[in-house]
Amino acid sequence: MSASGPGQFGQFAGQAVDEATQTAWKHAAAEAAVREVSDGAIVGLGTGSTAEGMLHALAARVSQGLRMRGVATSERTQTLAQSLGIPMAALDEVDHLDLSFDGADEVILPTLDLLKGRGGALLREKLVAASSRYRIILVDATKITRTLGVGAAIPVEVETFGWRHTAARLAAPGCHITRRAQLAHPGDPADAPFLSDGGHYILDLLFDQPPDIPAVAARIKAITGVVEHGLFLGMTERVYIGGPDGVRYADRGR
Ligand code: 5RP
Repeated sequence: MSASGPGQFGQFAGQAVDEATQTAWKHAAAEAAVREVSDGAIVGLGTGSTAEGMLHALAARVSQGLRMRGVATSERTQTLAQSLGIPMAALDEVDHLDLSFDGADEVILPTLDLLKGRGGALLREKLVAASSRYRIILVDATKITRTLGVGAAIPVEVETFGWRHTAARLAAPGCHITRRAQLAHPGDPADAPFLSDGGHYILDLLFDQPPDIPAVAARIKAITGVVEHGLFLGMTERVYIGGPDGVRYADRGR
């Protein structure tokens, strides 16, 4: 495995890679990353399909004798991790986490600034990342981009009370805001809103032009009614990238 440079994966950004290939790349990144877990570690466990691959790889190590405890970033992850036999703790039962693993929707090299939250778990993901000493992101090569918030929406978790007013405060020229709908479940009304594990709505903000990301992050965070947003800036130490040439990693640079 080798370190990667910013230009190596850009050719896959926004490209349609078939699902089986993308899944294989995600799993390869997850398999490589879990080798970083040392005996006795307390590990943050992310949410999403890549994180699920990581849980299976970690469970295999636990079954071979690795001692560790996991802290889940969602109810979904908690349930799967327990079913796989991974010992778990709640965030408030530990003082800190030694490292954490999670997926991402878009990643910029070499800063490792990234966008998360398509799975709707961004608040707990950010809380776990903020308490982790070393943060590792696992992606396939299609997630490496040059800009955030144009190819994928920036998710903003908001209080349900008065959410239309919060959405109005978030409005900006060239920014399209949609309240996220529930994933299709039989019997759901077509427009049932998605609810996060914390019982909040998610507003997805898609920009026509690449926005000034630090400015947008600061502006969103300051708005009354906003709980958290999916921009993770300066919150990642290493990213593992699965792609056509195997798995590479990149450490945060400037
Ligand atoms: C969930 C997330 C996920 O980590 C992100 O959406 C990536 O998901 P996947 O690994 O399924 O592509 O942020 O809130």
